[in-house]
Amino acid sequence: MSVNDLALLALRVSHAVAALIWLGGGLYYLIAIRPLANQELASSAQRRFGEWARPATLVMLATGVVLLFEGLSSNTAGITYAGLLALKIVAALGAFWLVSVRNRSRGGSVAERAVALGMAAFVLGVVISTIWPAE
Ligand code: HEM
Repeated sequence: MSVNDLALLALRVSHAVAALIWLGGGLYYLIAIRPLANQELASSAQRRFGEWARPATLVMLATGVVLLFEGLSSNTAGITYAGLLALKIVAALGAFWLVSVRNRSRGGSVAERAVALGMAAFVLGVVISTIWPAE
């Protein structure tokens, strides 16, 4: 395993761990926290989670861009690979955008859509890296 391979592995692991934190926290909020009657607790939990979700978003963007260049330059899979990757990135950016809109408006109605788009990005990421594994 070369230094390059190790660097790529570190990027992949960072991307996957950041995705786990972002999506896991979002799902836990929807499933367990938001249904609670205690609104004060729910918004305090959401604020604290933001302290993890924001850095996780930055890690996903930074590692995702490098993985994107690496994938497009080394992968010979062609148009299907590029198309699915584009779909995944649009879903991820849509999720990040919804979260930032929600933070500004303090409304709760878009949380499901943000988590659903994040889930789509996650599933597509797993599908893509399974169909076209790193050489
Ligand atoms: C909600 C946000 C996101 C989630 C949940 C997510 C999730 C994932 C997962 C689970 C993988 C598979 C990891 C592996 O098994 O190697 C992956 C791969 C990847 N992601 Fe993301 N991701 C997100 C955002 C992004 C963004 C914003 C970008 C680009 C700017 C990006 C680009 C990539 C690339 C290029 C791969 C590698 C695909 C390949 O194997 O060729 N992701 N992502």
